[in-house]
Amino acid sequence: MDIKKDYSLQKLNTFGLKVKAQYFCEITSLQDLKDLLSSNLYRTERKLILGGGSNILFTQDFQGLLIKMGIKGIRLIDEDKDHVLVEVGAGENWHQFVLYCIDQHYAGIENLSLIPGNVGAAPIQNIGAYGVEQKEVFQQLRVLELATGNLKTFSHEQCQFGYRDSIFKSRFKDKYLILSVNYRLSKSPHFNTSYGAIKQTLEEMKVNKLSLKAVSDAVIHIRRSKLPDPAEIGNAGSFFKNPTIDQIDFEGLRAEFPGIQGYNQPDKTVKVPAGYLIEYCGWKGKTLGKIGVHKNQALVLVNYGGGSGQDLKQLALDIQKSVADTFGIILDREVTII
Ligand code: FAD
Ligand code: EPU
Repeated sequence: MDIKKDYSLQKLNTFGLKVKAQYFCEITSLQDLKDLLSSNLYRTERKLILGGGSNILFTQDFQGLLIKMGIKGIRLIDEDKDHVLVEVGAGENWHQFVLYCIDQHYAGIENLSLIPGNVGAAPIQNIGAYGVEQKEVFQQLRVLELATGNLKTFSHEQCQFGYRDSIFKSRFKDKYLILSVNYRLSKSPHFNTSYGAIKQTLEEMKVNKLSLKAVSDAVIHIRRSKLPDPAEIGNAGSFFKNPTIDQIDFEGLRAEFPGIQGYNQPDKTVKVPAGYLIEYCGWKGKTLGKIGVHKNQALVLVNYGGGSGQDLKQLALDIQKSVADTFGIILDREVTII
């Protein structure tokens, strides 16, 4: 395993930001991991783990050792008449894993098609889309504790999953390297087509018999129509989370802003689309030099090429301020800022 110096991260972050890591290595095997653990740099340097770089905003070069997690492999570890348990290397691409499952007729993550990034990062923010979150099929994960080199397993409960959240975003942030994740998938599908435009898209695609592939294709079609492709325009998906507010506050806002939508949550709060709030404040489609807010999705900040992480961070702060001033709502960031 090779540790490189002043390594460009431009192709390794989906914002396409021109930043460097002081030290960089990619781990693709357990042997690489052992070599890394015994290196001097590992002992002395500050560390950051990188997956697919699709949920991270670099505002500066990273001073320290950046470890790109590339250990792959999908292994069937248990099976009964209804389910399979698979262990997936953290370096597997998430969407390729979804396609693999569809091919094997393993059901449960077809609605999570085309989410960028790697399997190792999926539990970190409990990725979700189109009515499904990864926690619904998650069983456990294996980690290496960065400070000690010890291996450990985290159960579902220990991960404390929430909406775009887990213990790895708060108490255990940057404390562990996720090595593999176990998912329990179903042998018989329970199609979830009630969210958003899935049903309508399936009709438009003239699908008369549901299949995992058809649902996945519909989700891919919707996502392509709404979200910019990072290969064309730098972005990290939704920059903010959709906020939840108390019912009474929502009623107050609806009296003032009749266009506002809200989705009742099991805990009696109301989830409000941040995209609406940002659009209302006039940000949608705004271009500020080389960066801006996407024209189809106000939640997505973009780098048209040559923009800086500092400017994107400032844009995010300006958006947060105008949403707070207008609606009294504080938007939480989804994206990690370095
Ligand atoms: P990275 O950006 O590399 O890392 C994210 C964080 O996880 C960092 O803090 C990093 O240090 C840490 N990390 C990464 N890998 C490991 C590891 N192995 N061990 C320990 N820490 C690690 N997200 C959704 O939930 N739903 C969506 O629908 C969605 N749509 C998106 C659409 C687009 C176009 C884009 C660009 C992003 C979208 N995202 C979405 C966000 C993103 O895809 C997910 O957050 C994804 O899980 C990030 O994976 P990654 O490997 O790129 O993580
Ligand atoms: N909206 C606007 N203006 C906009 C964008 C959205 O008014 O510019 C309103 C519309 O009323 C729309 C509603 O917001 O009906 C919801 O929009 P959309 O269906 O596009 O979903 P979202 O809430 O903006 C969330 C996730 C996405 C995920 C989709 C589909 C968050 C923060 N974002 O977006 O996840 O793909 O739903 O499930 O929860 C991500 O996390 O990076 C991400 C892309």
